[in-house]
Amino acid sequence: MNTRNPTIQILPSILSARMTALADDSLAALAAGADGLHVDVMDGHFVPNITIGPDVVTDLRRVCPDAFLHVHLMIDRPDLYVPRFLKARPDCVLIHAESPCNLTRPLSDIRRAGARPAIVINPETSVDAILPYADLIDEVLVMTVHPGFGGQAFIPDGLAKMAEIRRRWPHLDISVDGGINDETAPRAAAAGANIIAAGSYLFKAPSMAAAIADMRSRCAPSP
Ligand code: DX5
Ligand code: ZN
Repeated sequence: MNTRNPTIQILPSILSARMTALADDSLAALAAGADGLHVDVMDGHFVPNITIGPDVVTDLRRVCPDAFLHVHLMIDRPDLYVPRFLKARPDCVLIHAESPCNLTRPLSDIRRAGARPAIVINPETSVDAILPYADLIDEVLVMTVHPGFGGQAFIPDGLAKMAEIRRRWPHLDISVDGGINDETAPRAAAAGANIIAAGSYLFKAPSMAAAIADMRSRCAPSP
């Protein structure tokens, strides 16, 4: 049963936090008004970068016991590693449609663990890739950069995909990730996104609290 959140959720991506001060920066982001944390897991195979593994996510859960943890797996074998990540009690686990393995089992594992299963589509992937999983998921994440690194420019082709997903599966949450700032976030929200992940823009802001409040008001539907 999907519970689409009617209000915009803003999730700072801790990829842009200081890795040696991950606990402090995560707590500061939550104190700044974030609705949760976007956690980028990369394995050096699915994407050309390596970040954090399941033990770090488990420690993060200890530091932020009540935070909404949105765990984005950019790894080749989510079927093998989803159970390890579920030990951290994430709220949402996102796996790529492009992963070279069967996704039905990991999506069911996520659901059975009480977390929200989600599918991610890369910029070159069509919305039709969601079709085999539409009944198994609560959310689709539309990538608006090629995954792997923070600080890249927003690829606007994702906007039409968000609108198509909103039309075809109105019950699903739609998240957006990559190149999000005060100008691109409202465009994604207008296209149908209701969960916004933003890394470099929020972590580089002079005041993350002010940047989140401003982004929230810019994304709110006009009366
Ligand atoms: C990119 C990651 C993103 C990244 C976004 O592969 O999935 O979550 O942190 O960073 P920005 O917001 O800087 O584009
Ligand atoms: Zn991400």
